[in-house]
Amino acid sequence: MTPKICVKNLSKHFTAGVSTVQTLDNVNLRVNDGEFVTLVGPSGCGKSTLFNIIVGLLPPDEGLLLIDGEQQPHDHLLGQVAFMPQRDMLLPWRTVLDNAILAAEIDGVARATARQRAMDSLDRFGLGGFESHYPSQLSGGMRQRVALMRTFMFDREIMLLDEPFGALDALTRALMQRWLLEVWEGEKRTVLFITHDIDEAIYLGDRVLVMSARPGHIKLDKEVALARPRAPDIITRPEFVELKRELLATIEDESLKAFAAMNRSVSDKEAGGR
Ligand SMILES: Nc1ncnc2c1ncn2[C@@H]1O[C@H](COP(=O)(O)OP(=O)(O)OP(=O)(O)O)[C@@H](O)[C@H]1O
Ligand SMILES: [Mg+2]
Repeated sequence: MTPKICVKNLSKHFTAGVSTVQTLDNVNLRVNDGEFVTLVGPSGCGKSTLFNIIVGLLPPDEGLLLIDGEQQPHDHLLGQVAFMPQRDMLLPWRTVLDNAILAAEIDGVARATARQRAMDSLDRFGLGGFESHYPSQLSGGMRQRVALMRTFMFDREIMLLDEPFGALDALTRALMQRWLLEVWEGEKRTVLFITHDIDEAIYLGDRVLVMSARPGHIKLDKEVALARPRAPDIITRPEFVELKRELLATIEDESLKAFAAMNRSVSDKEAGGR
């Protein structure tokens, strides 16, 4: 089967002043059509950078990106994929409704049509009655739901979500996870989803990818062999717990490497300063 997304040997570095940070090194991954793949890894390992490259916001140094088997030059990518960035990027001068329709509007949907579609979706996103509020009048969780709604309204087969539930309290987060699975099971879009929460990664994913410490590459690729639909108490099942143990061991290893590298760079700077 031709994968929906295929990333081959992708690398990326950043230069700031005199220092160079190799952020991604030889990333390879595939996501099949209709698959829900979650991505976890230590903070700073390059997860958001990888997403920015896949959606066309950043060029890679090296490597290939294929969608439906077709190689995509960097400057053809923008607009092909629905994307929710890690920061919600709401426009402060637009209401909830007008923020929610932004991507659809840019995509050429008439404003009145987009507004009607958004009004019909407000309740599903827990935003009913807040259509005329401005972002500054919302809680962090509500802002994130507006950003999520905007991403859903951008009608694309592939959706990249960068920690969409990061700012939600535990109860709302659990409700949003269940809601997302229900919507996804109805639509079968291809999803790549970044999270720091291992339970969330397993509960939502068909597969979980673990990224290494920087420079990031895919360290572990584990299938989640749990039938759908998944009840919330699935997290107590032995298969779930066993998979969690294995993922945690790898993430812990990589996080320790990331921490050691951070300490090394601090002590190098201190030594340089003496
Ligand atoms: N535009 C940029 N210019 C310079 N360095 C950058 C830029 N974007 C990212 N980096 C660096 O690349 C590395 C990876 O950043 P990235 O945001 O991709 O990590 P992440 O895995 O998403 O982390 P987190 O889990 O904290 O969100 C960091 O060291 C960061 O400072
Ligand atoms: Mg990030």
